[in-house]
Amino acid sequence: MIPLRSFPILVFILSSVGALTTKRPPCGPITYWFAFGDSYTTTGFDPNSTLPSVGNPLGNPSFPGSTGGGGENFVGFDTVTYNKSLILTYDYAVGGATIDPTLVAPITLSLPDEVNQFLAGAANKPATSRWTSENSLFSVWIGINDIGNTFYLGGDRDAFSDTLLDRYFAQVQKLLIQYDAGGREFLFINVPPTYRAPLIIGFFPDQLDVAKTVIESFNTKLAAKVKSFKAMNHGVRTWIWDSYSLFNIILNDPTKFGFVDGVSYGEPGDFWGNSYHPSSPAHHIFAKEVAKLLAGTPWF
Ligand SMILES: *[C@@H]1O[C@H](CO)[C@@H](O)[C@H](O)[C@H]1NC(C)=O
Ligand SMILES: *[C@@H]1O[C@H](CO)[C@@H](O)[C@H](O)[C@H]1NC(C)=O
Repeated sequence: MIPLRSFPILVFILSSVGALTTKRPPCGPITYWFAFGDSYTTTGFDPNSTLPSVGNPLGNPSFPGSTGGGGENFVGFDTVTYNKSLILTYDYAVGGATIDPTLVAPITLSLPDEVNQFLAGAANKPATSRWTSENSLFSVWIGINDIGNTFYLGGDRDAFSDTLLDRYFAQVQKLLIQYDAGGREFLFINVPPTYRAPLIIGFFPDQLDVAKTVIESFNTKLAAKVKSFKAMNHGVRTWIWDSYSLFNIILNDPTKFGFVDGVSYGEPGDFWGNSYHPSSPAHHIFAKEVAKLLAGTPWF
């Protein structure tokens, strides 16, 4: 705590510095968001192309980017609508991403590639990026493809989830970088009930209960992993957005949330934008929930 009586001096110093600084941000405080994940998070960002900047907070491609379900996703809504600061969002998520390519094959890239892109780029804090441990949010929403592509294989799915989560958190650990310079604020998002997605219902009509069991077990283990990650790393703050529960709340009563039903897809009024991805109106609800969960932080 700063003793109260030194406060006016501190204010004086800060405002003097402000007056001498010519390159001030044009609006309020600038914050950062580094997002990792799969098609539920991606905006099609290429870290080698135009980077996020004031007036273009997601960088490339042009807003709202290329998303899994089409249109603005929760990253877009949270970055420009529910933000209470000017958030520059580096969305490293890639469609089809998995936790580890040696465990479950991704379509193109996986979580270690995304983390490496961050480490090779924004982590080096180039002059264009003023991110700090305090003003930067790190989010990870992954596991959907890992489970979607393996839940039906039989064998010990719980042991496999443990292996997945060990690899997952080995990557998260890298985001801390050196003690004073890395991520401290972490949002984790659990695996939604994708066994309610039209694609899975169509492919595995007899194994939806298996998918449900595997996802629920993974999510329980994820919560434990987040807890120990926080306990082992001093000064880290964590949140878990329970997407699993919110999807179920909406899909159990879709009309209450303005959707036609819980299984149609691809038309206005549908929860699902296509057979495996929520629509933009569904992402709008997710974004509100994320902003509510993180209310009072520098971002929301
Ligand atoms: C960005 O450029 C680096 C170095 O040329 C390359 O290794 C990497 O694959 C590129 N990333 C993407 C997403 O194209
Ligand atoms: C929210 O983000 C938008 C887009 O970057 C920006 O114009 C606006 O100023 C931000 N809101 C606040 C309160 O900083």
